[in-house]
Amino acid sequence: DNSNLALTPPMGFNTWNTFQTNIDEQMLCEMVDTYVSSGMRDAGYKYFVLDDGWMSMDRDSTGNLVADPKKFPSGMKAFADYVHSKGMKFGIYNCAGTKTCAGYPGTRGNEYQDARLYASWGVDYFKYDWCNTDSLNAREAYITMSNALKATGRPIVFSLCEWGNHQPWLWGKGVGQLWRTTGDICNQFDKDKVIGTWTAQSVLTILDKQDKIRQYSGPGHWNDPDMLEVGNGMSVAEDRAHFTMWCMLAAPLMAGNDLRKMSAQTHDILTNKEVIALDQDSMGIQGFKQLTMDGVEVWVKPLSGGDVAVAFLNRSGQTQAITYVWAEHNIKDAISKVDVDFTKTQYKVRDLWLKKDVGTTKGMYKQSIPSHDVLVVRLHALNQ
Ligand code: DGJ
Repeated sequence: DNSNLALTPPMGFNTWNTFQTNIDEQMLCEMVDTYVSSGMRDAGYKYFVLDDGWMSMDRDSTGNLVADPKKFPSGMKAFADYVHSKGMKFGIYNCAGTKTCAGYPGTRGNEYQDARLYASWGVDYFKYDWCNTDSLNAREAYITMSNALKATGRPIVFSLCEWGNHQPWLWGKGVGQLWRTTGDICNQFDKDKVIGTWTAQSVLTILDKQDKIRQYSGPGHWNDPDMLEVGNGMSVAEDRAHFTMWCMLAAPLMAGNDLRKMSAQTHDILTNKEVIALDQDSMGIQGFKQLTMDGVEVWVKPLSGGDVAVAFLNRSGQTQAITYVWAEHNIKDAISKVDVDFTKTQYKVRDLWLKKDVGTTKGMYKQSIPSHDVLVVRLHALNQ
């Protein structure tokens, strides 16, 4: 039933945030090569996903979709083979409507035929968008495609891209392994971006919509707050904060930057194994906001083995000094049943960006956090 396909949040790369529909085989092969040589694959990124724009405008005489021969002169099977030959998994995109958002042929009415074609190419991950769907019933449309994918017999992760309007968190489990919870993200930290008739959402706007649906996320069925904008124009602090918070949310981690041109800082953010480990923790608990003080939010994510991640997010426009007395902030979470009493149990505190142990929870945590930056620590019980 595919329920064990994404026991931790999927990690990969997707073309959309940087390239939109401007993709072609040669550029993509370079990206695949860089994915490996830069260490992204070894850091845990697994999928290489083509978003909108890979198709020709017309189906062929048998009704099959066709990869645009100008963009993919070797054909899609050859590209999928290339991705697989580098030890990665291959993902592709279409839309539940009559056309994709960028105007290419949609899947409506061709679900089983398209699914068979993807399986024959070796597709491992399928993102299914929601443009041009008129009066379609979202749940039914996604179930139809889910059944079509399952009928191929090939394990294919199914990514529901319905933008949250039909509350996919209430029905998405079992249909797919992840569902978008909001409209599209943009490369801005705290200001939405108006693009013609719609508004792309900032990192903070999206973050603020995740807390109340956290109980619906877990191993094999994830809330998806959209793909990463790390390396796409925000400051290093903002990129670090965005990445950290997505890991605290147990969000799918789909890099969306040009890997061939990434700076050392972007690379270090995307491949920080200790921060990724929060995201990939086997319990799969989506973190939550514990409290707010002076423009700083404190987020908590219960981890396996009794560990806990605590992130301090400075949303404000200036540096904030914090003094955090652990014993005044015990952690109780009804969803994970985690119950941390700092007056009874002492924890080692490790700063995951400094990559250093920085004391214990016996005393207090005094730090200064630059504007739009984040601190994240992992707590590990010392005397249990
Ligand atoms: C809307 C989706 O939300 C985006 O992630 C992207 O897939 C575009 N459509 C492609 O047209």
